[in-house]
Order: sequence, then structure tokens, then C-alpha cells
Amino acid sequence: MAKPMKKLFVKTYGCQMNVYDSARIADLLAPLGYAAADCPEDADMVVLNTCHIREKAAEKVYSELGRLRRLKDAKAESGGRMLVAVAGCVAQAEGEEIVRRQSAVDIVVGPQALHRIPEMVARAERLEGRVLETDFAPEEKFDSLPGARAEGPTAFLTVQEGCDKFCTFCVVPYTRGAEYSRPVAQIEAEARRLVERGVREITLLGQNVNAYRGEGPDGEAWNLAQLLRRLANIDGLERLRYTTSHPRDMHDDLIEAHRDLEKLMPYLHLPVQSGSDRVLAAMNRQHTRENYLRLVERIRGARPDMALSSDFIVGFPGETDVDFEDTMALVREVGYAQAFSFKYSPRPGTPAAAARKQLPDGVKSSRLQALQALLAEQQHAFGKSCEGLTMPVLVEKRGRKPGQGVGRSPYLQPVHVDDAEHLIGTIAEVRIEHALTNSLAGSLANAAAQRMALAH
Ligand code: SAH
Ligand code: SF4
Ligand code: F3S
Repeated sequence: MAKPMKKLFVKTYGCQMNVYDSARIADLLAPLGYAAADCPEDADMVVLNTCHIREKAAEKVYSELGRLRRLKDAKAESGGRMLVAVAGCVAQAEGEEIVRRQSAVDIVVGPQALHRIPEMVARAERLEGRVLETDFAPEEKFDSLPGARAEGPTAFLTVQEGCDKFCTFCVVPYTRGAEYSRPVAQIEAEARRLVERGVREITLLGQNVNAYRGEGPDGEAWNLAQLLRRLANIDGLERLRYTTSHPRDMHDDLIEAHRDLEKLMPYLHLPVQSGSDRVLAAMNRQHTRENYLRLVERIRGARPDMALSSDFIVGFPGETDVDFEDTMALVREVGYAQAFSFKYSPRPGTPAAAARKQLPDGVKSSRLQALQALLAEQQHAFGKSCEGLTMPVLVEKRGRKPGQGVGRSPYLQPVHVDDAEHLIGTIAEVRIEHALTNSLAGSLANAAAQRMALAH
């Protein structure tokens, strides 16, 4: 007899590594009879794959758990059952507390214990009480994950996990553990499988992806540039990206890979956090403003059209108006295509949270507003600079308008393309007509050329 179908709902918070892990959770639970549900109301099991990076992110989990508690009770009253699991970085950081605070939770699983989730679910289903696993065993995790499934022409592939940098504001070294890099052969096999399933673009993921040092086929430690060169040889794989990079690990051979590899897209997320040397030192970023600016120069020397993106934190303890102005000046000097910016959020257990000079929220808010206005202006200017250009767009999915396709430019901007739905999964030459707030609108270059010819 076929196993009865059960429904699984996974809600993902935080970074792309969690997106990758959530897909693996679904893969791991499929053999137990779990298929995707559209909403928690329909689900026999709900997994919250959580993020601990800022206070707001972590708080969301507890309010969502409150909602699930009521859902679970309602299910029980009607004779049903719902399992609730908390995975990800909040699970790692606050596992015991979650179990104490929320009786609805059956399973707590840290990011490095993810591969054990089937066994944990089986135990919870047998009503063996609540199950908690937060060990660090990244090698085991990747050795026992099933092959990644492909959904559409783009995919994430985690190549490195964890962080040894210990920026004073950040929880990642505590939640994801020490740096670990997967072996080249394992990554290459996963990439080939994805390509066989129709993937054309792969984004390599790591909290410090450019610190990648994985075992190569020759038994030596390979760096990210070597890994990228290897993957660029895979037929049918058209585009490579990687994120997130740390300025300290951006070495010459990686910059040269951007010069040499056509498949490596001209977009780089290179978080700087602050433009003030004083703040950078207090953050333990291990680079100066000058290092960063020279690095940007070298990168643009190798790949003149490189689009840059960054993360910023405003209102770090002790940040003065002058420090903040240094950040604004750095932004003006670099010119970003896109960026993320946040108010500093003190995280329990990190050194900066214990600093005496915490800034009032009002100061953080007004600085964030000023920075975001400048970044939005730059993003718009970047979009404008694309108008009239023709560029290759990997069409990923249907758009809102009939017949429309949506994809990404080499610079990672979403592009809406008319009459391109039939091109999903392929790279189309697109003429960019105009820049919208967060995306571009264009039309197929052939169609645009025809229209132009008719008009003359
Ligand atoms: N490894 C990446 C960052 C991962 S966390 C790097 O080193 O750049 C993603 C972003 O969240 C960080 O770049 C930072 O801008 C932000 N962030 C991390 N901790 C934070 C905190 N305590 N408060 C506010 N923002 C934070
Ligand atoms: Fe966090 Fe710094 Fe590591 Fe990035 S490099 S994950 S910000 S500790
Ligand atoms: Fe959040 Fe953990 Fe990623 S804290 S940003 S989910 S590594």
C-alpha cells in the first residue's frame, strides 16, 4: 500500500544559505511521505528555518510560533496532528529557550544537524517527546544530503559554511560554527546534476565564500578562483555567481577570474559595513577604508563594468556624525548598483552588544534614512545607465503580464521582458527600455530592432 501523503510547509527567514537548507529539508523529508503544502493551515508539519542576525528576525520566530500553537491546538481538537520544527540559526542559538518558551515545538534542529531531521521527525511522530539536536558536524551534513533538486533555471549551491572572522556585531560564527569548505568533487557533482536538470545559472554560497579552501581533485586545498574555473568547464552551465565575499579574502586570482571567465557574472556583493576606519576597527573587520577603495579599483581594473553591492550597518556603538559621514563619502566614491543597510542591532553574546556607547534609536533611524536615500539614488542611476543597452538576460519565469518573461541581467537586476515567456530557461538578448524602481523593463533585441527599423 502507498504511504499516506503528508503535507510539509517550510517557512524560510534570513540569508540564501537558509534558502538552500530549506530546499534540502524538503528533499530529506520527501522519502517520509511529505509533499509541499501551500500554507501552514494545510500542513501536517511546519518547519521554521530561522535567522538570528538581528533582533527583529529572531522575534518574528516567537510570534510565528504563537500562531502555530493555536493552529496546532485546533488541529488536535479535530483529531489531527501537526508537528512543529524550528531549524536554522535561532534554533542553534536559543534551542533550549525555544523548548522552554514554546510548548508547541516538537523539534529543534541546528543548521549543521540538518541531515538528521528525518530520524528526528520519525521519533517525534512516534511521540517520543521533544527532540533537540544542535551539534556541529558540517562534513557529515554535506555527505548525507540528497542531491539538490532543480526548480527553474537558477540554483543556489552551498560550498562553504561558517565563519572564523568574529566581527564584533555578528552572531554567525556562533550559529554556523567554524569555517568549513566542501570538497571540489562533491560540489562539481552537485553542479552537474543541477545542469542536467535544466539549471543554467548557479550561485555558489558561503558566509565567507571567497575564503573557500576545499579539497581539490589533486588532494591540495583549492581556492574559490580554482573552483570557479573548474565549474566554468561544465557544458550547459552558462552563468556563475558567488556570495557573500569578505574584502579581506578578495585576492588577485579571484579578481583575475572575473577578467578571464566569461561565465562569471560582473556583479559582486562586497560588504563594507562602514566607511570609518575607527568603526571598522571596532567592528574587527580587519580592513581599512583605504584597503576597500583600492580593492574596488583593482576589481574595476580587471572588469570595468563590474556592478558592486554591499551591506552597511549604521549606529554601531560609538559611531559619531563624522564616522557616519565617512560612510556616506565612501558610498559616493564607490557608486553601488544595489545595497542593503541596517540599523545596528545588539546581539546577545557578541562583544559589541556589551559596548557602553550604544546609540539611541532615533540617531540610528535618521542615519539609516539618509544612507538609504543615497543608495536608492545610486541604484536608480545604475538602472538609468542601462537604458538603451542590449544585454543577455536569463529568462527565469513568467511575468505578471500575459506573455511576459522575467529574468536577470548580468548585473543581477530583475528584467521584465515582453513576449519572452517561451524563452524561459534560455538566455535572450534584451534591449533595456527603461529603469523602474527595483527592476528594468525591456524587449527582445530582435523585436526592438524591427520596431526601430519600421519607425525610420
Ligand atoms: N558574511 C557576511 C555577512 C553576513 S550577515 C559579511 O561578512 O559581510 C549579513 C549582514 O547583516 C551583514 O553584512 C551586516 O551588514 C548585517 N548584520 C550582521 N549583524 C548585524 C547586527 N548585529 N546588526 C545589524 N546588522 C547586522
Ligand atoms: Fe559575520 Fe563578520 Fe563572519 Fe560576515 S565575516 S559572517 S559579518 S562575523
Ligand atoms: Fe541569518 Fe543565520 Fe543566515 S543568522 S543571515 S540565517 S547564517
